Order: sequence, then structure tokens, then C-alpha cells
Amino acid sequence: MADSWIEVCAKDAIDEEDVIRFDYGGKTYAIYRSPEDTFHATDGLCTHEKIHLADGLVMDDTIECPKHNGRFDYKTGEAVGAPVCINLKTYPVKVEGEAVFIKVA
Ligand code: FES
Repeated sequence: MADSWIEVCAKDAIDEEDVIRFDYGGKTYAIYRSPEDTFHATDGLCTHEKIHLADGLVMDDTIECPKHNGRFDYKTGEAVGAPVCINLKTYPVKVEGEAVFIKVA
């Protein structure tokens, strides 16, 4: 099977404790850089009402949705704050050199 690692951006394009939106193959993803300088990826849309999570706020290990302030653990995808109750899908991430990659399939 073809290599499904997709280059997202340079490491420095994401600030620590921040998130960016990444669109690929008709889907949208959210790519996070934690306060510990690790990188993570989830589906880009909130499981509550399909709002872009990249417009939300990263606090420690959580992303807060900008619409109703639902929260997810972006490392595990777990829904941790109402009104969200459906977990987010997560994706493997790797850093090679200065670039961030996600595995989407
Ligand atoms: S749309 Fe995200 S919490 Fe409602």
C-alpha cells in the first residue's frame, strides 16, 4: 500500500499550545502542538455541530470548541467536557527534521 504519511507544515508553523487547520483529500484535520512540544492530530470538526476546532482554544491537553465550549483531550480524542459526548478520531503524527506529517489512512 502507498505511504499514507502526508506532510502538513513546518514545525514552527504551529506555536506551542496552539492548533492549526489542515485540509486534505476533502477532509479537515486539526493539528496541535502541546506545551511539552509534542504534536497531535484529530478530526478538524467538533463532533457536536461540526465547527472547526482550529478556531478553538488549546489549554494543556485539551481543545475547547469555539461554539459551545465543549472540550476534548486532543491526545486521545476523548470528549471531556459537555456538551460534547462523542470522541474525536485521532491520527498518528511524526516529525522528521523540521516537518510535521500525519497518517490519514
Ligand atoms: S459545536 Fe462544538 S461544542 Fe457545540
